[in-house]
This record gives sequence, C-alpha cells and structure tokens, in this order.
Amino acid sequence: MRPGQTWRTAIVTSLAAFCSLATAADICSKLNQQGITIENRLTIPFLNVLQDYWSTACGDLRPTCIASPKSALEMSQIVKELHDIDTLFAVKSGGHMPNNGFASIQDGLLITTQNLNNVIYNAEDQTAIIGPGLSWEDAQKGLDGTGRTLVGGRLGGVGVGGYMLGGGLSFLSSQYGWAANNVINFEVVLANGTIVNANEKENTGTQMSIASWDPRQRMTVEQ
Ligand SMILES: *[C@@H]1O[C@H](CO)[C@@H](O)[C@H](O)[C@H]1NC(C)=O
Repeated sequence: MRPGQTWRTAIVTSLAAFCSLATAADICSKLNQQGITIENRLTIPFLNVLQDYWSTACGDLRPTCIASPKSALEMSQIVKELHDIDTLFAVKSGGHMPNNGFASIQDGLLITTQNLNNVIYNAEDQTAIIGPGLSWEDAQKGLDGTGRTLVGGRLGGVGVGGYMLGGGLSFLSSQYGWAANNVINFEVVLANGTIVNANEKENTGTQMSIASWDPRQRMTVEQ
C-alpha cells in the first residue's frame, strides 16, 4: 500500500467512527425527548446493564447510550427511529450470548428489554404472559404458588428473549417439545416498527421465523 493510501484509509475510518457516534448520540437524545428511558455513559443504571452479561468481554463494549423500553409501543418507537438512521444497534435480553456484538455493542444504541418483565398468570386457561426481558429464574418465580412451571431454560440466568429465538431446549422438551412450541402468541415488533401478533392463525410465517436463530433481525416483545 502506498503511504498516501494509508492516510486516506485512516481518515475515512476516523470519519466513519465519528459519524456513527454522532448518529447514535442523535437517536439517544431523540428517544429521550419521546419519553423513553435512556441511560448515558457513566450513570449507575448504565453500568449495571453492562455488568449483567454472562461474558465480561461483552460488558466491556460501551454503547453510546442504553434505551429501556417499557412497552411494545416504546419498542416500536425505537425501531421506527432506527429505520431512518444509519447507526449500529444491539438488543439485550438476558445477555447470555458470549459473542461480542450480538447482545452488546460499542458506540451504538443498546436496547435492553429489562423493563419488559411482566409475568401475568391467567388461572382460567392456564397461560401466562411472559416478558422477554426476564431471566428464566425470574419468570418461574413469577409463577410461584400457581403450581405451574414453564417449558423454559435449563439455567436460571438465561434470558427469555434470546433463548426463545433459538427455539429453546428445556428439561421438559422430551415431553413438551421446544419452548417456542409452547408459546400461544408472540407479540412482535417488525423491522418497520409495526406491532403484530404471531400465532397459529395470524402472521404464521412470523411465528415460524421467530424460532430461528437470528437475534439481530427480530425482536420479540410480549407485554
Ligand atoms: C410493515 O411490514 C409489514 C410486513 O412486511 C407490512 O405488512 C406492513 O404493511 C408494513 N407497515 C408499514 C407501515 O410499512
């Protein structure tokens, strides 16, 4: 490589890094103005999220800010903003995935599903609404006293969201199948921000594709 070329490469690289930072920061303040909880670097809640990874290497990556949507609607607002802007982002549920950049990100928007943490049990039809931000341990705790258990993760610290995207192998799978087979309805935010229900009757293709391993392209929200 000629010396001139090296410099051009260096300049382009630093410009790209600057642009990515600028756009991520823009989206952080824009989402904040819309009332979505945004944590910036060096705040305690920001650091708490980064400590909540199975792999500390993932926690070493520093996003520009962290968004914590509290509903499918807020998740939709975030996805709609991302649709129009050229910035990197990642979605974190339990943070159990060890690969850097899957549920973690350097200089981009990190969306955590930690506030999508409802467990609502319906004794009549013996179903439960389970938020994707829960760990399986906390999801099960939410059912304490009901006499029911979940076809869910084999380790308590695994998150509901990522596990479900992989189909979900459970200790109960030999009897009940994959965890995803036991979900009656997924409430999903599509890539264009539209919220849909995916079940046996509606959006059946979406339901099928949720249970495939592609965490960077789909987000599951159930609340
Ligand atoms: C969003 O995507 C879905 C699925 O492709 C499509 O049916 C829907 O019309 C889109 N909505 C908008 C507002 O573009």
